[in-house]
Amino acid sequence: METLTAPGMVDAHVHLREPGAAHKEDIWTGTAAALAGGVVAVLDMPNNTPPIVDEETWRRKASAFRARAVADYGLFLGYAGGAVDPLPRLAPRAVGLKLYLDETFGNLLLGRDRLAEVFAAWPGPGPIAIHAESASIRIALETAAGTGRRVHICHVPSPDDLLSIASAREKGLEVTCEVTPHHLFLSTADVPRLGAFGQMKPPLLPPAEVQRFWELLGLVDIIASDHAPHTRAEKEGPNPPPGVPGLETTLPLLFWAVEQKRLTWERLWELVYTRPLEIYGLKPPAEAHIEVEWRGPYRLGARGYRTKCGWSPYAGKMAYGFIRCVTLHRRTVFAEGRLLAQPGEGRPLQRAESCSQRE
Ligand code: NCD
Ligand code: ZN
Repeated sequence: METLTAPGMVDAHVHLREPGAAHKEDIWTGTAAALAGGVVAVLDMPNNTPPIVDEETWRRKASAFRARAVADYGLFLGYAGGAVDPLPRLAPRAVGLKLYLDETFGNLLLGRDRLAEVFAAWPGPGPIAIHAESASIRIALETAAGTGRRVHICHVPSPDDLLSIASAREKGLEVTCEVTPHHLFLSTADVPRLGAFGQMKPPLLPPAEVQRFWELLGLVDIIASDHAPHTRAEKEGPNPPPGVPGLETTLPLLFWAVEQKRLTWERLWELVYTRPLEIYGLKPPAEAHIEVEWRGPYRLGARGYRTKCGWSPYAGKMAYGFIRCVTLHRRTVFAEGRLLAQPGEGRPLQRAESCSQRE
């Protein structure tokens, strides 16, 4: 049987829910799920309770990661309104600034009237990562052009949005973008079966749009899971929150795409490893790699995940390959389904010396 060695994924968009919602996921279960999925490092979003927007909330979250993470990590800073002075002060420690221009889970919605001011206050070196659904993408791109700031558009909502981002880039704007596995491997055809378990922001697309996304994949910089776990009870409740888990399924789904020749092995690692590190200006996790048993295809299970939420919207979907072994900092941290890392073994990702958008 063939075993392939690869660098492992750097997942540029996850919500590990600590602090504030550890009943959905916590740093330990979330980073353990990462390793099980062949993800050696995660970039964690700031829409916690309380949101990560100042020195105090930053310090508490960073020390919780230091104590309990088993994968490497970087943290985003958020902005909740009010004075912008925490932004330049915390910028050197954050992988980027995350702004929410449209309603989603959490309380970080930013009024458009403040956008230019917040952009101007952010000194980098990390980019401004933006949650924007179609209409606000244009505003974000205009503001980026006006202020000269580098922006990264998270979970691009549709192929048309991808085209407008690509054309802004052609005009010289420093803009990069990411697409999620749910927008590539699920569609509105799955919604009757999934119900609220198929609800997320931005929402799933019709199958023809999913097909277009695949055709336009050459314009995409990053594939990131947007791992956003909520409990079964919350999803089955009267106001289901948006978001689906993805840390343990992204690579096996993408391996199946490689096996089907929808993607090359080399391009895969550009999308999930090289570009995330380049865009966020980070050094690779030290002495890390994964081993993949190249076998399949098989259908993803409904159970058996390490994520605390315990379900997957991809149950029944085709996948390929099994993550057999994960090495991080030269230590075997995951092997044959067993987690071998101790809490706190995960390290903060270090900044690369120069942080340019492209080499
Ligand atoms: C995310 C969450 O639950 O934190 N939900 C989602 O649907 N993607 C928030 C987000 O990334 O928008
Ligand atoms: Zn998200």
